[in-house]
Amino acid sequence: MKKYIGILTSGGDTPGLNSAIRGIGKACINKYGMQIVGFLDGFRGLMENRIMPLNSNTLSGILTTGGTILGTSRDKPYKMMVGGKIMDMTDVIVDNYHKNHLDCLICLGGGGTQKNAYHLAKRGLNIITLPKTIDNDVAMTDRTFGFDTALGIAVDAIDRLHSTAHSHHRIIVVEIMGHRAGWLALGAGVSGGADVILIPEIPYDLNIVADSIMNRSRSGKPFSIVAVAEGALTHEAYNKIKKAKKEMQATDDKKQKIKLKKHLKALDNKCTGNTAFLAKELEKLTGLESRLTILGHLQRGGSPSAADRLLATCLGTACADYIHEGKYGNMVAVNGDETIPVPLEKVIGKLKLVPPDHAWLRSAREVGTCLGD
Ligand code: F6P
Repeated sequence: MKKYIGILTSGGDTPGLNSAIRGIGKACINKYGMQIVGFLDGFRGLMENRIMPLNSNTLSGILTTGGTILGTSRDKPYKMMVGGKIMDMTDVIVDNYHKNHLDCLICLGGGGTQKNAYHLAKRGLNIITLPKTIDNDVAMTDRTFGFDTALGIAVDAIDRLHSTAHSHHRIIVVEIMGHRAGWLALGAGVSGGADVILIPEIPYDLNIVADSIMNRSRSGKPFSIVAVAEGALTHEAYNKIKKAKKEMQATDDKKQKIKLKKHLKALDNKCTGNTAFLAKELEKLTGLESRLTILGHLQRGGSPSAADRLLATCLGTACADYIHEGKYGNMVAVNGDETIPVPLEKVIGKLKLVPPDHAWLRSAREVGTCLGD
């Protein structure tokens, strides 16, 4: 019996999404004779039943293109803004899955998408996910596609910032995406030879950073590149957030918990991504002129790297095999050069952070990079 497959892309877009859609689509059609449709704009398109046919025409010429031909959104099935109200749209989504006679829904996304997909799997839908995000922070997979492209863009930026920092004898602080994880800033910082790398996993001390810049200056290098992850925190901010989290977890009073949760969120928003403050403080502490560059969404744009095209294609074709074999409720995870199915309940609610003994951190320290600790 012919299988009917739906695909959606959800969360922030990532280079390699189209390569993955093509990989899934071509293998499903060519190898297994399945029929594929795409839902537009993530879970919202599934809720609104907005469909794009995926066939040899629509799957052609997309291997190398950026973004996602299906569009994306950060909508969650159980918490969607509809008519100005936040509503649980799970029932509508489950209904649409059945109305379209789907045998399986493939969700391409990061940590949030894995959680949303698991929510639908618990409602009885056949779900398979692929791990994508430039942040590389999805648990239980060696890698996520999109990371390599973003890494290349960030390294290119650091290379370019070096010559201008050198010419003007300046500190250039470069803010790199990655959400709560430091993979992108660390990888780009080591590859680009940043003098300071600050990541969320290692709270930093401003004076230690300033001292390392001053030491460079005294040794005849009056310029420095500071690669900072958007989620990096000073020691003070880290401790404040930790305390607020403990307080929130300790209370059993429902109202108080909501209040403390809001306070924690506000504190978190205030403390993270404070790179303008970092640049100004470093200027004050070192007496060197400083500038801030925020790479922002540039890191997610454009054509995927060769490594991401390869990874996304392999995950996509493996996904077609998983569908054929009925391996539902799993993420197609990267394990060396192979893929393995990982049950969604093992993926959700976890972040893959940089471990303190990671090889990239050891190398950074050994080449003399300041990590702010
Ligand atoms: O998760 C990918 C990511 O690019 C993060 O690195 C970043 O924090 C976030 O998305 C930005 O989200 P948005 O595109 O919604 O502003």
